[in-house]
Amino acid sequence: MNVSRIRTLSSALVAAVLLLPFAPARPADEPVTAETHMVVAANPHASEAGLTILRAGGSAVDAAIAVQLVLSMVEPQSSGIGGGAFMLVYDAPEDGAAEPGLDAYHGRETAPAAATPDMFLDEDGRPAPFPAVGIGGISVGVPGVMRMLEAAHRDHGRLPWKELFEPAIRLAERGFEISPRLYFLLDRYARFARGEDFRAHFYDADGNALPTGHRLVNREYADTLRLLASEGADAMYTGELAEAIVREVRDNSVRAGRMTLEDLAAYEPRKSAPLCSPYREWRVCGPQLPSSGGVTVQQILGILGHFDLAADAPESPRTLHLLAEAGRLAFADRNLYLGDPEFVDAPVAALLDPDYLARRAALIEPDRALSSVAAGEPLQARHWDFSAGPRQDIPSTSHFSIVDRWGDAVSMTTSVQGAFGSQLMVGGFILNNQLTDFSFEPTRFGRPVANRAEPGKRPLSSMAPTLVLDGEGRLKLAIGSPGGTRIINYVSQALVNVLDFGLDVQQAVSAPHIVAQDDSPIELEERTALTERRDELEEMGHRVVPRNLNSGLHGIVVDHRDGRRVLRGGADPRREGVALGD
Ligand code: DON
Repeated sequence: MNVSRIRTLSSALVAAVLLLPFAPARPADEPVTAETHMVVAANPHASEAGLTILRAGGSAVDAAIAVQLVLSMVEPQSSGIGGGAFMLVYDAPEDGAAEPGLDAYHGRETAPAAATPDMFLDEDGRPAPFPAVGIGGISVGVPGVMRMLEAAHRDHGRLPWKELFEPAIRLAERGFEISPRLYFLLDRYARFARGEDFRAHFYDADGNALPTGHRLVNREYADTLRLLASEGADAMYTGELAEAIVREVRDNSVRAGRMTLEDLAAYEPRKSAPLCSPYREWRVCGPQLPSSGGVTVQQILGILGHFDLAADAPESPRTLHLLAEAGRLAFADRNLYLGDPEFVDAPVAALLDPDYLARRAALIEPDRALSSVAAGEPLQARHWDFSAGPRQDIPSTSHFSIVDRWGDAVSMTTSVQGAFGSQLMVGGFILNNQLTDFSFEPTRFGRPVANRAEPGKRPLSSMAPTLVLDGEGRLKLAIGSPGGTRIINYVSQALVNVLDFGLDVQQAVSAPHIVAQDDSPIELEERTALTERRDELEEMGHRVVPRNLNSGLHGIVVDHRDGRRVLRGGADPRREGVALGD
């Protein structure tokens, strides 16, 4: 067997293990109810930290900061202060004000100034296998979470910044018991765990993952938190911690990266209005680019709005067919048109134009799958000079939803990209590998790909933290999920489960998934009743595969009754999250 064949096989094996499902499924239950405040996050310690801050009089943004600082430690496979995030904030109207405030923040990782479009090609000019670039320094983007949270705290904080660090510092010093899911992932990754500090922190001397129940203390992280608590996010972007980050990225034992101190010092988060569009009687809001999670979820809903979904059951063949076709059409546009808006003039308004969406919806046949889907031609994009890029999926990422006693809310999705990010650790936290969200191929069919790597650019995301408002501008729902590009399908399906089918939020997040994107086979969640629909969908011409679909939907529905607010929280039974409230 020649060397390149061995290399291809071993990369395929590594990729297969890296992509394995991780789903200790728990039975779906009733939603958790509360009247004052609520937090739903992917780990009980994180939900508890958020609740502690809410009880102390903190705002939803204050609680979000405490949640993120704890997730960094207890769910390091998913998110952390070395990563990036998208966050929506709902500011309930004060007495007399007609409209709520809505802010979208993002702290998306940014490519260093030395990034080049070919940085993810191998020596033969082909896209490198994921594991060859996903571990080590080359894929580390300038982290954005802390700068983003600091900006949101300036606008929406009620408690002092420093106080928000206390639950995480306590936990880092006392330690927490490794959860079954963390152990499961550490064990799965044991053979590929290459970062030295990562191995030293999470594995024993023989290379075995520390077991479930092991009390893991992280004093280095406690020191980092104290520094950030007293000096603010600046401490990560200049000074000793910044120098340690750059040293680790450039000079580690796995693969050198290109980040400099100047890249870190130049980082800025973004703040804007969220992207919103109507869906039936509601207004659905999501993040702006560089996440496709706003525009693509809203395209799917905009197409589905042309059909009476509620006329059928959520798992009927007609519903599944419509979800599939809407997903396929929206992803064809996503792959061609979307990228960092500071580099690509993506036609977002035209993609959400009601006439354009009506034309896309009209392509759908009632009982026959489209044999293939192509991107449409929204008005502004007629002279589009880009090729569609491929997409990839890796398990990690975390979503949490929070409502505080003032009725203000946060919907935040946060990620280090691949599970355990780059596996490089500094200051007790993991650095992301988010630059692997760029298209590895800079050009296709002789044209550039909109989402290719470039200096100072932010990779296209699928994170879709979502807020739904009712006709009176009141918050109806906060929700989001991990799942790579599947986030968009998970969130769209959960939205129609609540808005069209009237499921409670726990049923909506527990319901079995269908994922459909461009011309890829449709995925039905394996070991669920949905797979019984396979034959009917195939008869319509769909290609169908059963698959473990590891979402992590965490949502809160707000019911307004007689001037009172009732909060109902749903946590995805596929992960370890809990809803807590008073
Ligand atoms: O930004 C994104 O869309 C991805 N980096 C998120 C990765 C993810 O959700 C992995 N999923 N399970």
